[in-house]
Amino acid sequence: MNTKIIAAKDCPEMLDYLRARRSIPIKQLGGPGPDDAQLAVMLETAARIPDHGKLFPWHFIVFSGQARQQAGDLILEALKKQDPQAAEAKCDLERNRLMRAPVVVGVISRLRPGKHPAWEQILSAGAVCYNLCLAAGAMGFGSNWLTEWYSYDDTFKAGIGLDARDHIAGLIYIGTPDSPPEERPRPEMSKIVTYWTPGVSLNKGDKDYDREGFDFPRAGFSFEQINE
Ligand SMILES: Cc1cc2nc3c(=O)[nH]c(=O)nc-3n(C[C@H](O)[C@H](O)[C@H](O)COP(=O)(O)O)c2cc1C
Repeated sequence: MNTKIIAAKDCPEMLDYLRARRSIPIKQLGGPGPDDAQLAVMLETAARIPDHGKLFPWHFIVFSGQARQQAGDLILEALKKQDPQAAEAKCDLERNRLMRAPVVVGVISRLRPGKHPAWEQILSAGAVCYNLCLAAGAMGFGSNWLTEWYSYDDTFKAGIGLDARDHIAGLIYIGTPDSPPEERPRPEMSKIVTYWTPGVSLNKGDKDYDREGFDFPRAGFSFEQINE
């Protein structure tokens, strides 16, 4: 790791990258993936993120080679528990989830006991996920940050060795794009930015970005449970 610590750097090329980067849709991801040395750089870069309390409240699980299929067997087991009659095509699809990229990195939020709020520890895990995507891109690889249903499934989570303190923040699929990605919608900044003054009406994006007829989303976990 570079030991010269940098607070700021005039780096237009990086700004261009940040302003234009995109995830690669999973169907467009293929080989090759990073080798072990490249992956080690990516992971070290991913771990260099803000983290209140220096708790390192996250860890990585690398799925590569045949481990992807073995973990896929656990996804299948989880599916069968939910739906014992699942059709063969569905079973194949689920079993092969992690085969869609040469390397899949699980970024796991692991809550550390103490005074630092769980919310902040979880946010820090999100920063790890994004930094991993950025590092992969900066090294010429495409990536996609997915969770999908099995990230929330206890059979799968226990099967890969997670316990109640662990939450899957992301499975980062890393490979090589077979074609350039298309742009996707981005927010209109004027709808979500407010220069605050007393009494100003905040631009919260509700009118444009709330979806009518939808309930608020599931959390995926309960903070009460986490904070017990
Ligand atoms: C926490 C998290 C979980 C996600 N899980 C999924 C998922 O399960 N399936 C999916 O299609 N996209 C999922 N996405 C969205 C993809 O990462 C998406 O392709 C990406 O956000 C596109 O953004 P970008 O073009 O700015 O990279 C997830 C994103 C985040 C932040």
